[in-house]
Amino acid sequence: MALIGVFDSGVGGLSILDEALRQLPQHDYIYLADSANAPYGERSSDWIATRSLALCTQLLNEGCDAIVVACNTATAEGIQEIRESLAIPVIGVEPGIKPASMQTQNGIVGVLATEATLKSDKFNALLATLPSNCQFIKQSGAGLVPLIEAGQADSEATLELLAKHLEAIQDAGADTLVLGCTHYPFLRRAIRKLLGESINLIDTSEAVVRQLKRQLELQDKTSRAAQSCTLTFISSKDEQSLLNMAKELMASDMTSHHIQAKSLSSIR
Ligand code: DGL
Repeated sequence: MALIGVFDSGVGGLSILDEALRQLPQHDYIYLADSANAPYGERSSDWIATRSLALCTQLLNEGCDAIVVACNTATAEGIQEIRESLAIPVIGVEPGIKPASMQTQNGIVGVLATEATLKSDKFNALLATLPSNCQFIKQSGAGLVPLIEAGQADSEATLELLAKHLEAIQDAGADTLVLGCTHYPFLRRAIRKLLGESINLIDTSEAVVRQLKRQLELQDKTSRAAQSCTLTFISSKDEQSLLNMAKELMASDMTSHHIQAKSLSSIR
């Protein structure tokens, strides 16, 4: 059994935690949301890297055996430094442009991600490895994260903004859309309303958790917990509202877990 840290700028990483609880329910988890500073996607590379390293170090100090940087933006800008600084497995999240390039039928793929992710060297290096016969329509989802953070994933305002952001992707006739930010799986219903049921949505959370599982197997940390597991929610803004959002947004049954909420200032 392991203690796993899951970190995001806000509630987006709950989409990864949800999948982790489905595949690996036998572990303790700490979910850390830096909601006081979200969105990260419009901040500078240096700021994102420094802040992400500081928060992952706090998770290490809490005793985590592994950390999932459940944020495409923090992965793009900071994962290298985090891996170099922390002597535990650190798993990141990247937009699923590779699986998208393999699954698209018409070769037209939309990529919805934050401005920082789309501009990052890491994303562009990955893009450069993919076949040139696949056309990627890149679109920043500016403004969507604050709406999701405010619990408005299905509101009219969100639908309107999303419609604007998806216009170029829709006009190009994309048959596949990469959800390149961990907040965006919570927009699934809104996206389907706008683009229809047939668009293939690529969300990498399942693959990310499989990677976490492999890392835990390598550390021999796969056994079942003897008693009920603990799920700790930590927020830099409002831990009670984080907990409420987790209950609302996640499909996992958390009743078998001991749940607690803490403020970021209460940990080292
Ligand atoms: N959830 C994040 C991501 O995957 C960050 C969004 C943001 O804070 O801008 O990119």
